[in-house]
Amino acid sequence: MNIRFEPSGGLTGELRAPPDKSISHRAALLGAMASEPVRIENYLHAADTTSTLDAVRALGALVEVRDGETVIRGTGLREAREPDGPIDVGNAGTLMRLLPGWLAAQEGRSFTLDGDASIRRRPVDRIATPLRQMGAELDATDERYPPLTVRGGHLRAISYELPVASAQVKSCVLLAALAADGATTVGEPERSRDHTERMLLRAGVNVHRNGRHVTVVNADELILDRLRVPGDLSSAAFLIAAGVLVPGSRLLIGDVGVNWTRTGFLRIVRRMRGIVLGDLEQETGELSAYEPISDLDVAHGALEATVVEPEEVPLAIDELSLVALLGCFAEGETVVRGAQELRIKESDRIAVVVEGLRGLGADIEATDDGFAVCGSGGLRGGSIDARGDHRMAMMGAVAGLASREGVEVVGIEAAAVSYPRFVETLAGLCS
Ligand code: S3P
Repeated sequence: MNIRFEPSGGLTGELRAPPDKSISHRAALLGAMASEPVRIENYLHAADTTSTLDAVRALGALVEVRDGETVIRGTGLREAREPDGPIDVGNAGTLMRLLPGWLAAQEGRSFTLDGDASIRRRPVDRIATPLRQMGAELDATDERYPPLTVRGGHLRAISYELPVASAQVKSCVLLAALAADGATTVGEPERSRDHTERMLLRAGVNVHRNGRHVTVVNADELILDRLRVPGDLSSAAFLIAAGVLVPGSRLLIGDVGVNWTRTGFLRIVRRMRGIVLGDLEQETGELSAYEPISDLDVAHGALEATVVEPEEVPLAIDELSLVALLGCFAEGETVVRGAQELRIKESDRIAVVVEGLRGLGADIEATDDGFAVCGSGGLRGGSIDARGDHRMAMMGAVAGLASREGVEVVGIEAAAVSYPRFVETLAGLCS
């Protein structure tokens, strides 16, 4: 489906960010791994996170969606049922990477995970390597791509240094660690989002952090009763970018998760002199069991270019396409370095962003590990193909509102993977 987004007057209004996708996936998985029912408030009911509910059902958990609550009656840590056929993860990379951590501990049972065409291009060797070291057996196409088959085993505790900063891979190993025979430590080259660690701590697991290393001690059970999913900073980021870019805008976005390992984009926007006020969590050495939230107050203003360095990348990984868009409007050259991981997201996000924004009139070059944009004070407009990637679809829509001639987004329906009411929400804010 194609929709044209016309240049807009100022965006104004108050709204709530939609529920967080990353935290919803984790809530459903930990709910399924728990022995007692877990009530989840504000679960995201979007395509990706519905795949997670379907997956845990296939594994024997009972899922009930009622009165604004999602209740999961899990199977316990070691009792996932072997399903009749493959588990379909749809488009959800987080499900594809996290779920095998739990399945690896199901001794004597075998599980196959598959998904859509985009999932079949996303590497899973990064989780297969540590899970094999722990004692599970895994097979993938060409040793690297889904479908992925996991045969559970008796797991050993390991120390594992991640070759790339990836919260998905870290989380996969930490979930497997729950059923291993001791304490497992994972090291990351740079800090990445820590939702899994926080939720495990909340569930009574012995988990601690020491700098770039996190250790999980095996557990008999997870004790979670209630969880509340905060609003998604990564979804709110599209509204924030629209508010910053479109002259005359003033938005109040409520209930946004501001865990510091997710707010790299807000720090980048502020460095570009964008106006985003809120009570952001400061970097913490100690692990917290909670997810902080804040209201964000966003207003239009002139932007300056910035350089995003490799250590900032994992903390803004899903928002870097928006940094490119902001760069088109900023004074000077905006550069993103050390972001080669973007090439293996739902699309090759370096190629798709560069091609897409160039088609709208941007002066932007791809590099091996990012891009460089020369701000030219705005964007002409035109047409952009989302290539099945939800974040590209939403970026195209925001570009249209801020452009001189409007933007047609080809494949806007992709937005539903993470933000089902995105188009209606944007329309409601436009004047
Ligand atoms: C996610 C981690 C990131 C991010 C993805 C969600 C998560 O992926 O891009 O959208 O929920 O853990 P990587 O771990 O591959 O960086």
